[in-house]
Amino acid sequence: MTSRTSRIPGFRRLSIEERIRCLAEHTGLELGRIVRALEGGGLDAATADDMVENAIGTLALPFGIALNVRVNDEDYLVPMVIEEPSVIAAASHAAKRVREAGGFRAWVDAPLMAAQIEVYDVRDAALAVNRVRDAKGELLALADRVVPGLCERGGGAREVAVRDLGEGFLVAHVEVDCRDAMGANLVNTIAEALGPRVAELAGGSLGLRIVSNFCDRRCTRVEARLPVLALGDDGLVVARAIARASTFAERDPYRATTHNKGIMNGIDAVVLATGNDWRAVEAGAHAFASRSGRYAPLARWKLTEDDAFLEGRLEVPLALGTVGGALRAHEGARLALAILGARSAAELCMVAAAAGLATNLAALRALSTEGIQRGHMALHHRARTGKIVP
Ligand code: MEV
Repeated sequence: MTSRTSRIPGFRRLSIEERIRCLAEHTGLELGRIVRALEGGGLDAATADDMVENAIGTLALPFGIALNVRVNDEDYLVPMVIEEPSVIAAASHAAKRVREAGGFRAWVDAPLMAAQIEVYDVRDAALAVNRVRDAKGELLALADRVVPGLCERGGGAREVAVRDLGEGFLVAHVEVDCRDAMGANLVNTIAEALGPRVAELAGGSLGLRIVSNFCDRRCTRVEARLPVLALGDDGLVVARAIARASTFAERDPYRATTHNKGIMNGIDAVVLATGNDWRAVEAGAHAFASRSGRYAPLARWKLTEDDAFLEGRLEVPLALGTVGGALRAHEGARLALAILGARSAAELCMVAAAAGLATNLAALRALSTEGIQRGHMALHHRARTGKIVP
């Protein structure tokens, strides 16, 4: 929705009812729809019973909106579901600074997911690798036949890769363009359909057939560039401290883990709000952070050579969908997507990544200056008492 603004001054001072009314006005969504979708946390017990086994009800979490987010010249009101105080405020605050400097820039890879087919007891690995590779055309056609709906939407199987894992183990990857779906179900269907033929070609026994959540070919990248003066009167000191905090994370996996936790605060909250599989996102993100053999920060901050700008860049694999999965059943998640106004999974990925870079910036700024506890504890206190602390 190009005409939307993500700036709503005074939003946090409104009551929940007033915020919902304000949201309806800003998004053009029908007020009644928003109210109905939020009833009972957006999911009734009967639907929950259809979704999982042995359901006894649902468990609600706070659903808030991060403001001021601007990505690739478009404004987004960003739905976030999270139990931790201060994250939504931090995201909104950091996004405001970035917005004033032109907003986030983001890019996404094609939505490629890999179906893994394992074969074991392979006698001649070199021969097996060649035979599977040579059958690429046949395998891609077979894959497309079992996901006709995906092919109609412009997706489908794109590539076959084979790796010899040693000691008779071999794995074939079928890369699938999942379009706007997260893709696990589609990819698992393909893996199971192709498994017997791959094992036959490889001359071994068929092992596991399942999606890989290490979707390193489905990355999202987001950047922010802030004039150091935008960080306050002591902007250069703050910018240097943020860049130093980033270096600390590069040098120390203990710190990198917490640094990345601050990024996932933003990303997971959007992933959860939009009904996506946050366990898959977490698994992929941390595998990606370790890809060099050493756990590293997903986002890095540095000063430009002339000390005029602070630049941050986040790269993270994100397998998110705007169709299928829990979205079919979850009224609250559908509402979240409608509030966001994302027209594609690619757009959702870019906004989620921007939220992650925003929460990272906010955390590093707080840690590098007054420390995290002052702001954090004020909001914790507010959460306990329902009162805003001056
Ligand atoms: C707390 O949820 C997240 C932080 O620990 C992140 C960080 O240390 O960068 C504040």
